[in-house]
Amino acid sequence: MKIYVDSANIESIKRVMDLCPVAGVTTNPTILSREKRNPWESLYNIRRLIGDAIELHTQVVSQKTEDMVEEAQFIVKRLGKNTFIKVPVSFEGFKAIRKMKSLGLNVTATAVFTPMQALVASLCGATYLAPYVNRVDMISGDGVSLVQNIQSLLEKQGSKAEVLAASFKSVEQILRVALTGAKCITASPSLWLEVLRHPLTDHAIQGFTTDFEKLTAPGKTLATTVK
Ligand code: G3P
Repeated sequence: MKIYVDSANIESIKRVMDLCPVAGVTTNPTILSREKRNPWESLYNIRRLIGDAIELHTQVVSQKTEDMVEEAQFIVKRLGKNTFIKVPVSFEGFKAIRKMKSLGLNVTATAVFTPMQALVASLCGATYLAPYVNRVDMISGDGVSLVQNIQSLLEKQGSKAEVLAASFKSVEQILRVALTGAKCITASPSLWLEVLRHPLTDHAIQGFTTDFEKLTAPGKTLATTVK
């Protein structure tokens, strides 16, 4: 599975990157707005932090196909080839995905809420498809089943597009989506930290340290107790 960080906050992205391998950073206009600065400042900072080898997913704000395509070209010129243009799957969005594909741009279809939207976006040329798990759960739907159904539809139809599951609010949702076999998950930095953290792990470490210090002396390690 590939880990993506859904954030435009440099310190938080860095924190996750220090802890585990990150395949990409995903942003959208809402995420950029949280940083309360010029969006290009945030995007340049992210690209500088992650380098060219890590994917950066940036969403177009335009609503009309031609404007989306123009905006996408503008974005890629500034953020480099390994940039994926996020396009919401509106009617204009589907047309834009086709056009972007023909221009050789990398596309992530976003705001996906049904398996058929995902399949058609993949036929239009999207590399990644981003279903919104928590937003489906919030309307009494089943976000995990959505991911499962998209995956099985893509498989049955021989599509090579990948699911990049998005919109998570709990560790449980991430686990359940990972168990479906989803290969890419994007979540906020705080949620990734929650995934990695467990109070019993901290408790166990505390016990090991106390016992070792009783045996030796405070602050000692195996490296400093050689006979
Ligand atoms: O990447 C899309 C994602 O950020 C949407 O998540 O939390 O706004 O539902 P959320």
